[in-house]
Amino acid sequence: MRVGQGGTGPGPHTPDGSAIELYEVTPAHGEDELINAAIEPGSSILELGCGTGRITRPLLALGHQVVAVDESPDMVARVTETETICSTIGDLRLDRRFDVVLMMSYLINVADDEERLRLLRTCAHHVRPGGAVLLQQQVPGMLRGPTVMVNDHRRLVVSDVEELPGNRQAATLTHTIGDRSWSQRILTQNLSDDQLSAQLTDAGLTLAEYLTPDKTWVRARPI
Ligand SMILES: C[S@@+](CC[C@H](N)C(=O)[O-])C[C@H]1O[C@@H](n2cnc3c(N)ncnc32)[C@H](O)[C@@H]1O
Repeated sequence: MRVGQGGTGPGPHTPDGSAIELYEVTPAHGEDELINAAIEPGSSILELGCGTGRITRPLLALGHQVVAVDESPDMVARVTETETICSTIGDLRLDRRFDVVLMMSYLINVADDEERLRLLRTCAHHVRPGGAVLLQQQVPGMLRGPTVMVNDHRRLVVSDVEELPGNRQAATLTHTIGDRSWSQRILTQNLSDDQLSAQLTDAGLTLAEYLTPDKTWVRARPI
């Protein structure tokens, strides 16, 4: 289990505290369409932190080729429709380049500058010249507690939010579906535009554009 992160609830959990059984029953919420609109038809995609394939599957159905990577053997075992690789992102070094490297789910907000740089260097290593790295980041105000969101018999409660030095936040996310509940304590770091830009540059990437007005989705390109 990583520092500052932990998960409880039914079934196995990943080292970052994500519950496999929760992701197995969670549908896409439009992320696949947003990604599809931002990339060329029939793109080769390296998806980092694929989980159970919640977004992998819709991207395949849209005609893209996806190689799906996750450090959790329990997660990649759920992705049976395409090539998978069980690896930490930081250690991944394939002898292949992709049109698109996708790293969503706020992995870039890990509260450790060295680890973030390792993640971004893996993105830079695997994107072809002229290709795109798509990132989903947490933005200020996203983790405001206590918050309760209810949707389709699901409930998400954000609680015990702590504002920490260095733009870091800790929070507990509790998802409830029917009579099953999963809690995950997360530690994240928001990046200012300048910090994001500088970290991308350190990794050999450049910030090309924000894909959404709230700056959650970012397109970077290899330098
Ligand atoms: C919150 S889940 C989201 C999964 C998927 N992206 C989705 O949106 O459904 C995050 C996933 O990233 C994986 N992950 C987190 N950090 C990782 C790392 N450093 N290397 C490889 N996988 C990682 C976890 O194992 C987990 O499956």
